[in-house]
Amino acid sequence: MRQPYRATSSNKNMEKILCVSFVGLLIIGAQGAAETLSDDIAALGELESLDLEEGDDDVDLFDTLSWTSEKGSKVLVNVDGFGAVGDGVSDDTQAFVKAWKLACNTSNSVFLVPNERRYLVNATRFRGPCSLNFIVQIEGTIVAPDEPKNWDPKNPRIWLDFFNLTGVLFQGGGVIDGSGSKWWAASCKRNKSNPCIGAPTAFTIDSSSAIKVKGLAIQNSQQMHFTISRSRSVRLSDVQISAPGDSPNTDGIHITASTDVLLENCKIGTGDDCISIVSGSSNIKMKTIYCGPGHGISIGSLGKGNSTDTVTKVDLDTAFLKDTTNGLRIKTWQGGSGFVQSVRYQNVRMENVSYPIIIDQFYCDSSTACQNQTSAVEISKILYRNISGTSKTEIAMKFACSDTVPCKQLILNNIYLEKKDVMVKTYCNSVTGFWYGYVWPLAECLASSHKDSIIKQQTEEVDLVAQSRENLIHTEL
Ligand SMILES: *[C@@H]1O[C@H](CO)[C@@H](O)[C@H](O)[C@H]1NC(C)=O
Ligand SMILES: *[C@@H]1O[C@H](CO)[C@@H](O)[C@H](O)[C@H]1NC(C)=O
Ligand SMILES: *[C@@H]1O[C@H](CO)[C@@H](O)[C@H](O)[C@H]1NC(C)=O
Ligand SMILES: *[C@@H]1O[C@H](CO)[C@@H](O)[C@H](O)[C@H]1NC(C)=O
Ligand SMILES: *[C@@H]1O[C@H](CO)[C@@H](O)[C@H](O)[C@H]1NC(C)=O
Ligand SMILES: *[C@@H]1O[C@H](CO)[C@@H](O)[C@H](O)[C@H]1NC(C)=O
Ligand SMILES: *[C@@H]1O[C@H](CO)[C@@H](O)[C@H](O)[C@H]1NC(C)=O
Ligand SMILES: *[C@@H]1O[C@H](CO)[C@@H](O)[C@H](O)[C@H]1NC(C)=O
Repeated sequence: MRQPYRATSSNKNMEKILCVSFVGLLIIGAQGAAETLSDDIAALGELESLDLEEGDDDVDLFDTLSWTSEKGSKVLVNVDGFGAVGDGVSDDTQAFVKAWKLACNTSNSVFLVPNERRYLVNATRFRGPCSLNFIVQIEGTIVAPDEPKNWDPKNPRIWLDFFNLTGVLFQGGGVIDGSGSKWWAASCKRNKSNPCIGAPTAFTIDSSSAIKVKGLAIQNSQQMHFTISRSRSVRLSDVQISAPGDSPNTDGIHITASTDVLLENCKIGTGDDCISIVSGSSNIKMKTIYCGPGHGISIGSLGKGNSTDTVTKVDLDTAFLKDTTNGLRIKTWQGGSGFVQSVRYQNVRMENVSYPIIIDQFYCDSSTACQNQTSAVEISKILYRNISGTSKTEIAMKFACSDTVPCKQLILNNIYLEKKDVMVKTYCNSVTGFWYGYVWPLAECLASSHKDSIIKQQTEEVDLVAQSRENLIHTEL
């Protein structure tokens, strides 16, 4: 690792180089996207203050309302009382539907799925609104029928779907098992001669608010495991998601068109993204996340089919990724529009991760090749801080941005990624930003990757700029 130079006020020569470098950097900025030093510093300031709200107070109420502590005042609605058998073979769908109707309609009720049993349940929409202080207590296992051919044709994309709820707590330490293996075998990702049809999502929270999900395990989903869509103020904690690393499209947690979402202490290993955050989402906070196997923690894909997509204010703090095919990824298709803005990744440890840090604006998950286009989702204000560990690929940092819509205001601070016996590299295309502190692999290309840029700087000079910027930033904030 290279030691950054230190500028001392008594060193006149150094100051001179510093001045020259500043000018150089400003010229690059002016030639690029009309950025200035103060824009960059403002971006960092904005990212520093990205401490997102941790959900509504309503949600916190549940901590004191946990059903185990106040069993007495709760109305228990046990699915067994509605004819559920729980042998893993009998169809318990109707028992669940009847129990839900009563529980949802009763104040202070608990919808109980008892421990030590397996309930076979088909695709079901559990609709709200429900009465106040509703708790869904899943202690046993809920299992899906495993045969795709018999799946309810009216609900091709859902299994357990919770719709239009406000103020509901899901908990109980139970297991939700999608029995996905036959779906995976029928996927066109597994066998090109299969038709490409979507499979159900195991667990969906849709059009809901003030939802808390605590201590559940979701496994072997037909396709995605846990989707949060069109919702506000959703908090997941101690959720475990697992499926084999080669199960196709089995994203762990998928967030779409939702705001104020907090994922905390979640352990995810799947055959696709551990977490994927897509269009219309903002204020997404992730804290203490374990990911692997899987495709990493992703924003996107965005901009598919020329769509306009936006994702703003995403904060990941403390994560461990192991054996994943990407680390921290932003992926967009050519031809899209919209933007990804204000993302902070910090305190991340990687082990054997391909492309630990990656922005891919040429994403193409399609059987036919994708053409480059002039339109793209614009990416700006992205901070990577304290990211370390081992890369599986030589390219440890990849910033592949659209030629026509450059990535702007990328900031790197204290990065150390290595690969045994190999000199790791940073790839840049059409990206500007800066770094401070230590950064390995070196990321000079961040400051000079503009196609029309004529200025090439010495490493030392750039480093001085980064250093002095750090000082500037500290005094400004
Ligand atoms: C409960 O059911 C009754 C009768 O169907 C209905 O009038 C009432 O609105 C329901 N209450 C809730 C909270 O859904
Ligand atoms: C529910 O599951 C059972 C058992 O797999 C199956 O026989 C039945 O056809 C399913 N019903 C619907 C409506 O999907
Ligand atoms: C959703 O719930 C709200 C009350 O919270 C109700 O007014 C609305 O009609 C419900 N929407 C649907 C589609 O059921
Ligand atoms: C792919 O599917 C076709 C048609 O269903 C089948 O004949 C073939 O054996 C499958 N290939 C593999 C590798 O499973
Ligand atoms: C997206 O836009 C490009 C350029 O205008 C056009 O060639 C292409 O057909 C569009 N694709 C879709 C899926 O609309
Ligand atoms: C690295 O990860 C790959 C999966 O991407 C795995 O097959 C391999 O065993 C891992 N290597 C080490 C040294 O852990
Ligand atoms: C950097 O991140 C690692 C991994 O999450 C963490 O253990 C360490 O405390 C962090 N360092 C600082 C200075 O925050
Ligand atoms: C699209 O543009 C990128 C960056 O300039 C280039 O690397 C890639 O080869 C191009 N792809 C196609 C299909 O033209």
